[in-house]
Amino acid sequence: MSNPTLSSASGPIGVFDSGYGGLTVLRSIQALMPEYDYIYLGDNARAPYGTRSFELVYDFTLQAVRRLFRMGCHLVILACNTASAKALRTIQQRDLPLIDAERRVLGVIRPTAESVGDITRSRHIGIMATPGTVRSQTYEIEIRKLHPDIHVTGKACPLWVPLIENGEYDTPGADYFVRKYVDELLACDPLIDTIILGCTHYPLLLDKIRHFTPPHIRLISQGDYVAHSLRDYLCRHSDMEARIGREGHTRYFTTSHPDLFDENATVFLGHPVQSEHIDL
Ligand code: DGL
Repeated sequence: MSNPTLSSASGPIGVFDSGYGGLTVLRSIQALMPEYDYIYLGDNARAPYGTRSFELVYDFTLQAVRRLFRMGCHLVILACNTASAKALRTIQQRDLPLIDAERRVLGVIRPTAESVGDITRSRHIGIMATPGTVRSQTYEIEIRKLHPDIHVTGKACPLWVPLIENGEYDTPGADYFVRKYVDELLACDPLIDTIILGCTHYPLLLDKIRHFTPPHIRLISQGDYVAHSLRDYLCRHSDMEARIGREGHTRYFTTSHPDLFDENATVFLGHPVQSEHIDL
């Protein structure tokens, strides 16, 4: 049953991440569809999610989704692989029908899984992601549904997010851990010709990952695939598209300190922002 307190007026698209990484996805979405309104919500106070339990990631993500709905969003994108892997399915199937069956929550894993079928030639791909995403095997499951012939190897990269969050992603110190995880992945399956960067933070490490990866291997960053998939979705769902605000405004919210968020967000987004504090 619909919740009568939820507004049916037009509203922004909600973009949620555990912290800063989802800004790389928002950046691609804004570039493709600048006409829409967006709210970005980063749960920086409780990041990282990648090493947290299934239950906590689900609870935190559901709190954020409910908050974004109360702020007027009809459509929320979980721009976080860990949240998409651990919480999306339950929210879509169990919670949404109870909260408001007219609202939608989409993730980043399905659009990325769809993209690899046309890219890999060897049909052997690697996923580099947080321990939570790799352990959930959500990429394997989604890719198997769409491309049963593709062999998937997951590699957890627990130190990459902390390196990025602490501003060490462009230092010589990061080289060791970038090379280590890339080498370990390729040692597991030398036939890999495509690697999905299955964490929204990893585009910041792209140059280093490229440097330590053989040139024939294609690296997939998610932002553009997610943005195009969202545009397709809105073309196919005109009822939802009609409920999105169209003033081209974006507001940024963080559960942590806005000053800190603003300082770090520029690196992910490419331009300065002014965020506001929010409690979930
Ligand atoms: N944004 C998360 C993801 O894409 C990574 C950061 C975290 O561990 O919270 O998986």
